Amino acid sequence: MSTYDNLPTSYQIAHLTIQPNIVLAPMVGVTDSVFRRLILSLGGCGLVSSEMTSASAVGPKARNRHRQLDYLPEERPIAIQLSGNEPELVAAAARTVEAVGADILDINCGCPSPKVTGGGHGSALLRDLPKMERLLKAVCAAVQIPVTLKFRAGWDDQSLNYLETAKMAEQAGVAALALHPRTRMQAYGGIADWRRVAEVKRVVQIPVIGSGDVRDAADALQRLGESGADGVMIGRGAMHNPWIFRQIARLRAGTTPMVVTPADKHELLTRYLEMCLEDMPERLALNKLKQLIGQFGIELPGAATLREAVHRSAGVDEARERIDRFFAPHLEAVA
Ligand SMILES: Cc1cc2nc3c(=O)[nH]c(=O)nc-3n(C[C@H](O)[C@H](O)[C@H](O)COP(=O)(O)O)c2cc1C
Repeated sequence: MSTYDNLPTSYQIAHLTIQPNIVLAPMVGVTDSVFRRLILSLGGCGLVSSEMTSASAVGPKARNRHRQLDYLPEERPIAIQLSGNEPELVAAAARTVEAVGADILDINCGCPSPKVTGGGHGSALLRDLPKMERLLKAVCAAVQIPVTLKFRAGWDDQSLNYLETAKMAEQAGVAALALHPRTRMQAYGGIADWRRVAEVKRVVQIPVIGSGDVRDAADALQRLGESGADGVMIGRGAMHNPWIFRQIARLRAGTTPMVVTPADKHELLTRYLEMCLEDMPERLALNKLKQLIGQFGIELPGAATLREAVHRSAGVDEARERIDRFFAPHLEAVA
């Protein structure tokens, strides 16, 4: 028995069962195949998503099919996310996504980046629901795999339209919704107001997943309970603490919490680097390591100095050596 016994543990997207109902948020520059496999290896994550990819980089006219569509069989079920604003072009890209075997096609109507909204993509579509509707209908008609929508609460506080968007998307054929309940203008400031997730849940029949500000296991289950959402999506919290999914499973089951040791952290960072090196050129692998270590919760004295040292490292050997040296005393203390 645990306090969380009444919470849902899975949700259904068309024929797919997503279990557990705690999933990895799509993050540009972060959720590539290596990061997704890293997260999945730690357990407790029910679904992973690709980085957002522009439909124009994927459609039949794209010169080289985008690397962001690559995934390994063990990552399934996987959602691949597209952005775009021309219904026919996004529909063509959707067919490519289906052809590579993705389980879910996710459409991004939440990205706040001016580079994306400037072209009328991402959250810019929140300002043109008729266009979003045409796009969603075209995409749903183009593929057999379920189409999901990730969106924000509205463009700004004066134009909150998440309920309207949710209802329209359901009518258009979308199989599940993920709401990051900030506005576009908020970007990542302020708080993610999960009451909006609860409101969306009350106006549609399809699954509703909430996204935003989940930092630890208790947060995730509290938000799941309070909002009545079908699932929780975790982004930055997973970079800070990749074990968060497993910790949620433990908390839910009422078993002993999983304590992450310095040895676990050392193993994770070095394994991530090795996985990156297997997948990409050394320079990119080093950049990926620098990015993760910038967010990763080292939570030991001197962590800031280690971060800086890794950021200054000219090559992977130097970075690896600095990490090993930093963790060595902590590993000895445990041994
Ligand atoms: C670095 C970064 C990249 C992101 N890229 C995407 C993306 O490609 N597609 C998307 O739908 N949302 C993207 N987001 C938004 C996240 O999926 C998520 O909705 C948001 O960060 C709130 O959740 P969190 O507080 O758990 O991070 C990104 C967020 C971050 C921090």
